[in-house]
Amino acid sequence: MQPKHICLLTGATGGIGQAIAQLFDAQGFQLILHGRNELKLETLQKSLKGNHHIICGDLNDAEVRRVLIDEAFADLAHQPTMLINNAGISQFKSFDEIHGDDIESLISTNLIATIDFTRLFLCRVKESSTIVNVGSAYGAIGYPGYSLYCASKFGLRGFTEALMRELANSDHRVCYFAPRATNTSINSTSVQRMNSELGNNSDTPEFVAQELLTLINSKSARKTVGWPEKFFARINGVLPEVVDKSIIKQTKEILTFARGEQ
Ligand SMILES: NC(=O)c1ccc[n+]([C@@H]2O[C@H](COP(=O)([O-])OP(=O)(O)OC[C@H]3O[C@@H](n4cnc5c(N)ncnc54)[C@H](OP(=O)(O)O)[C@@H]3O)[C@@H](O)[C@H]2O)c1
Repeated sequence: MQPKHICLLTGATGGIGQAIAQLFDAQGFQLILHGRNELKLETLQKSLKGNHHIICGDLNDAEVRRVLIDEAFADLAHQPTMLINNAGISQFKSFDEIHGDDIESLISTNLIATIDFTRLFLCRVKESSTIVNVGSAYGAIGYPGYSLYCASKFGLRGFTEALMRELANSDHRVCYFAPRATNTSINSTSVQRMNSELGNNSDTPEFVAQELLTLINSKSARKTVGWPEKFFARINGVLPEVVDKSIIKQTKEILTFARGEQ
């Protein structure tokens, strides 16, 4: 069977990344799996049916990003035609507990590295391509305890939308994919406790991977996963005051989780 796409997937060793890798492997995609941990990457590679490649390195390092792109495009017969920027980190902390280093690391990983990796990919890709940036419901809804994460994902959403419109008349498709809370280790036990206490919905990584595939197979440029987050994201865009009221009612309680008091 001819491979559908050769897909470069960042953060493939994480919860959502592994689920995407497994689903795309089953769908006949050829994968270039990226992560920071070689052992985890090899274990994932061995667990899949297809003949996939691995590349390993920290996306926060500009030189490493260039090397990773060189490695991804090294095989002239198998050049990637799809990039899924999935690697990311999160932080759930009240703003008064945030340090300068937290700002650098979160904005660098989720925003700067993703933008630069996209630029490097587009400089090398020869024909048409698809780029999917993995954002978050918190890229459209500001949430207490997530000020840095929201800043990074709002930024990513703006970057993706602008680039999508800029490349609309080219052969490059650019999409934004926004999961809501998903059961992976990116969420600390405080986050899990808060979500369960407040009745916030949480998805499995397998469901999220399926939603991502639905976006890729559609003609849409963006997809938010799940109700009511999909609805709140839209309302927050037009009537943020309505969403302010419903979230601010819970702020005190949310911050007790963010400060580790519950
Ligand atoms: N889970 C959720 O609730 C949720 C909700 C909405 C959006 N998202 C988004 O979904 C994406 C995947 O999240 P996840 O839940 O699967 O998280 P995860 O399980 O923690 O996986 C994150 C992945 O990103 C990689 N990564 C982090 N920093 C990196 C760096 N500096 N350089 C290279 N790789 C790096 C990690 O590599 P290592 O294995 O080496 O750590 C890991 O493979 C993220 O962009 C996240 O913001 C998640």
